[in-house]
Amino acid sequence: MTHIPGTRIFRAHLFHIAGSPAQQDVTQALVSIPDGALVVSGDHGEIAWVGPWADLPAEHAGAPVTRADYLIPGFVDSHVHYPQSYATAAHGGGQLLEWLDHCIFPTETQYADPEFAGRAARYFTRRRIAAGTTAAMVFGSAFPVAQDALYRETLASGLRVVSGRGIQTVGPDAASALITDEKTAIDLVAKEINHWHAVDTGDPRTARVQVAIVPRFSLSVTAQTLGALGELYDEARMRGVYFHSHLNENNRKGDGEIAAVLATYGVETYLDTYDGRFLSGSREGGRTLLGRRSSLAHAVHSQPRELARMAETGTSIAHCPTSQLFLGSGTMPWQATMDAGVNVALGTDIGAGDEWLISRVAGDCYKVHISEEGDAGTALHPAELLFAATLAGARALDMEHAFGNLDVGKEADFLLIEKSRWEPLDGMLTMGIRSDDEAEATLEELFTLLMGLRQPAIAGVYVQGQEVVTPGLDPD
Ligand code: GUN
Ligand code: ZN
Repeated sequence: MTHIPGTRIFRAHLFHIAGSPAQQDVTQALVSIPDGALVVSGDHGEIAWVGPWADLPAEHAGAPVTRADYLIPGFVDSHVHYPQSYATAAHGGGQLLEWLDHCIFPTETQYADPEFAGRAARYFTRRRIAAGTTAAMVFGSAFPVAQDALYRETLASGLRVVSGRGIQTVGPDAASALITDEKTAIDLVAKEINHWHAVDTGDPRTARVQVAIVPRFSLSVTAQTLGALGELYDEARMRGVYFHSHLNENNRKGDGEIAAVLATYGVETYLDTYDGRFLSGSREGGRTLLGRRSSLAHAVHSQPRELARMAETGTSIAHCPTSQLFLGSGTMPWQATMDAGVNVALGTDIGAGDEWLISRVAGDCYKVHISEEGDAGTALHPAELLFAATLAGARALDMEHAFGNLDVGKEADFLLIEKSRWEPLDGMLTMGIRSDDEAEATLEELFTLLMGLRQPAIAGVYVQGQEVVTPGLDPD
């Protein structure tokens, strides 16, 4: 029997989290196939078969084979700021609110210039490819010209993106170039949705390019603007448009972000500013910005009822420990958040985070949670880290049906890893000591792979079975 034309086989040690497990069950869902094969075929690069190389069905024999040391699902970055691409090593001079004033508002103002924005969009896309971030929730620029450049570059590369212009209708002087009046803000969001949402397929279940409504945070808009965005979202959510923002990041007493939100809005919890009780306009109490296509970055200092409400509505948390270390934001309580049943995916939060590679963020995730205060410290299981870096991100984007693992029928978004391309990784995997127990040794191998991975070892980045194209012929 000869294989179907267009079929390709990737042979490597496969790791993924199979099925659609609840967070507490991911350790049982880990699949490791030491000499595995992933068969990709079809118009959207679907996974036609996965399993041990030795069991490859005869119908696929003869298809071209690409070999690598490891193959894992593509990384999902659930929170990354495109207009902070060049700001990862900027001295902030303080925690969140000072850092925004001193570094971030000025840097984001540069994106008004189309030439600058074009260059930044190419750079941002290249950084994503280098880091194997096949899908991302991208916090956007205030400037439509910069958003257009981002979508164009992403489409050309083949990566997946959800993004939306960062909305600000109020703010300090440093942010003045980023601020518009409310009507302009609403018009620009509506235009962005109409132009770019699901532009490639017209269907939010399959599109690689999609749009979100993205107020920077509650302090960058007014109650009235949030109400207007809620109204817009009533319609937009039917089209699969997303909602994304920040939540409960900085709790410096008295003058931190959370204290300022509670005082400005007169609410008991930060989440109320995005939720029905506060937003209820014409539709009594029913209006909300939360839901399965909504995610909120940080949620470090949430109250139990905020976590319960996020779980109830299917709203995900983009957990950004690298950024939280940089801004002194504290540590999201891992176990309490899991116990509440909220989906937690990893985000780089470039540029408060200074690391583009999601597995490095997973490394910080491991470190901060093992050091959590009191007896809350948890040594996260390698499967939990892989889940947070891949399938949880697909879930946060409500695209778990399409990607996030290597299940048959999904679109093939994956990374090929060659350990010899990064000598320390090769050394740790080849010379490091592992348990005599096979199951234990497998977990240790995955842990070392995730912790030791660096960009040079990523040998191939695939979305829908196609190798992603590196944009930017310009020498920038
Ligand atoms: N809160 C509001 N804006 C931002 C931002 O740009 N980065 C982070 N980390 N938090 C924010
Ligand atoms: Zn952020």
